[in-house]
Amino acid sequence: MTTGLFARKSVDGLLQEASTDDHKGLHRTLGAANLTALGVGAIIGAGIFVLTGQAAAQYAGPAIALSFVLSGIGCGFAGLCYAEFAAMIPMAGSAYTYAYATLGEFVAWIIGWDLILEYLFGASTVAVGWSGYVVSFLKDLGIVIPPGLSTAPLNLPAMFIVALITTLLVFGIRKSAGFNNVIVFVKICVILLFIFFGLAHINPQNLTPFVPENTGQFGHYGWSGVLRGAGVIFFSYIGFDAVSTAAQEARDPQRDMPIGILGSLLVSTVLYIAVALVLTGIVPYQKLGVPDPIGVGVDAAGSALHWLRPVVKLGAIAGLTSVVLVMLLGQPRIFYTMAKDGLLSPKFAAIHPRFRTPATTTIVSGVAAMIFAGILPISVLGELVSIGTLLAFFIVCTAVPVLRRTRPELPRPFKTPLVPLVPILGAIISLVQMVALPPDTWLRLVVWLLIGFVIYFAYGRRHSKVQLQRAEQRDDEESH
Ligand code: ALA
Repeated sequence: MTTGLFARKSVDGLLQEASTDDHKGLHRTLGAANLTALGVGAIIGAGIFVLTGQAAAQYAGPAIALSFVLSGIGCGFAGLCYAEFAAMIPMAGSAYTYAYATLGEFVAWIIGWDLILEYLFGASTVAVGWSGYVVSFLKDLGIVIPPGLSTAPLNLPAMFIVALITTLLVFGIRKSAGFNNVIVFVKICVILLFIFFGLAHINPQNLTPFVPENTGQFGHYGWSGVLRGAGVIFFSYIGFDAVSTAAQEARDPQRDMPIGILGSLLVSTVLYIAVALVLTGIVPYQKLGVPDPIGVGVDAAGSALHWLRPVVKLGAIAGLTSVVLVMLLGQPRIFYTMAKDGLLSPKFAAIHPRFRTPATTTIVSGVAAMIFAGILPISVLGELVSIGTLLAFFIVCTAVPVLRRTRPELPRPFKTPLVPLVPILGAIISLVQMVALPPDTWLRLVVWLLIGFVIYFAYGRRHSKVQLQRAEQRDDEESH
């Protein structure tokens, strides 16, 4: 029997839970196309609209396109591992649940705690991106919001959008799949327009040298810059795992989850590489460290593309709004799952009697996200989200071969190909991107994890349902 830090939830129990009444609130309505759209809706956001420009300016130059290739390949491998789990354990809670079933409670806690970085801090990051485009759009209309009110440590527009969406979520306005499809369509159109019309304005000189010479410092241009760039823009791929959190709402999770995860990843990768090439082709990369790089790209193309300016900015604003919504919707669900397991206070699992939403957790998450969006710059937020999520990916990749060995008999409707090669490559590429991130980002991750350990040992471990059950079983066995 496994006890203590390695106590595991039984996979069979999870499968039973997935099919019981406990989840009757969720309807199985999503098919493969909707799931792919859900993924793309969660993926395309501040990463491509903002961080691409910043990472090109500071770290990789035009070679940021190569960073996208590397990061995309890593996500593909990790995505295949996610798909195996998502099809096998079709439960809300995603990587946290997978780890609980395979690697034990402590690792599950680390992932759950880590997912807070992904969703809550992710919402803050995207909100700061939203602010950049709103300020830029308003400026075009002659309304100037002073930088003192729209950049850290006081970013009012970013705080506003988090507050607005939190309020909607408390009252239960859930994004419908139909609405999501419209936003996804707008986002993809805007990006395609930028690529298509931008192509003609590429100046090859901007792309040479493609990999700018390293400054002598690790991560500042050169090949190490490509690696650090990959760690930074990894943020732009985050979200395909959000497909896995919708497993209980999928009509045929066994077939459709892998399609949703890998399909959305593929669409985004192709678009990202193209945008990166066009953007650094029309603007010298040194000029891209701004809050609205794609807007700067359109401006640089001159008067011929004037009409595209408001289109791109409005499209970006709509697209970023939907990502904030997805993330603020996801965070309370993770808290909910962890609280149900006893690892967090039951208050986090409370559902509001009238609105039928997890109102308390939604407000807690929203207020925290709002504060971080207000006081921190996008670079700090984005890198923190990247490193936290890369850690979760690393653990998920590691878990696949472990579970294949410990529970070979479990039905696996989708199998990661070439195990253990694919999971190992996924784990290595995740780790390389983490290692390439700046040391202060590591420091923040370590501090975050330490806070998590304190909470786990002070609260979670003592209240964990799995631990309590095991203790009861042991008592029973002893008394017989
Ligand atoms: N991938 C999402 C974005 O770039 C989180 O905004």
